[in-house]
Amino acid sequence: MNELKIVSKFTVFETSAELSSNDKILFSKAVEARKKAYAPYSKFSVGASLLLENGLILTGSNQENAAYPSGMCAERVAIWNAASQYPNMKIEKIFISAKSTIRKVNQPVSPCGACRQAISEYEVKQATNIQIFFTGETGKIIKSNSINDLLPLAFDNSLL
Ligand code: THU
Repeated sequence: MNELKIVSKFTVFETSAELSSNDKILFSKAVEARKKAYAPYSKFSVGASLLLENGLILTGSNQENAAYPSGMCAERVAIWNAASQYPNMKIEKIFISAKSTIRKVNQPVSPCGACRQAISEYEVKQATNIQIFFTGETGKIIKSNSINDLLPLAFDNSLL
């Protein structure tokens, strides 16, 4: 029997001031997208912005539903927005920003498991890594260089 040890590495930015000028734009697009969330039930708004390889930035926000499971996370709204409009364009980066109207979100909000799986699908499809930045309303920003650091041992099409 052997032990398998998996190490994940992240970059932590203290504030958005530490981001590159291009990443600051992506950050502000995620904040803008967050303001368009429809989150009357959870009061938790999430915005996601994606940078495509052609330089375009596309966004999405969480969209809730009175039948709760019918709602959708911001990340998957943004990814499917990009994938349905630009099916052959690689996604280079995703930026995620979250805010609640009932409590202060001052720590980074990482993507949920289902969104990690969706991001993994597109990393596998495009065969290049997708950088993932995530933050709260205020506070640190965490950057992951690949979904593999957030979803080790992912299920993918090689297992089918
Ligand atoms: N949510 C996202 O949009 N992204 C995530 O990664 C986590 C959760 C949304 C779903 C729901 O509308 C609200 O946040 C509370 O879970």
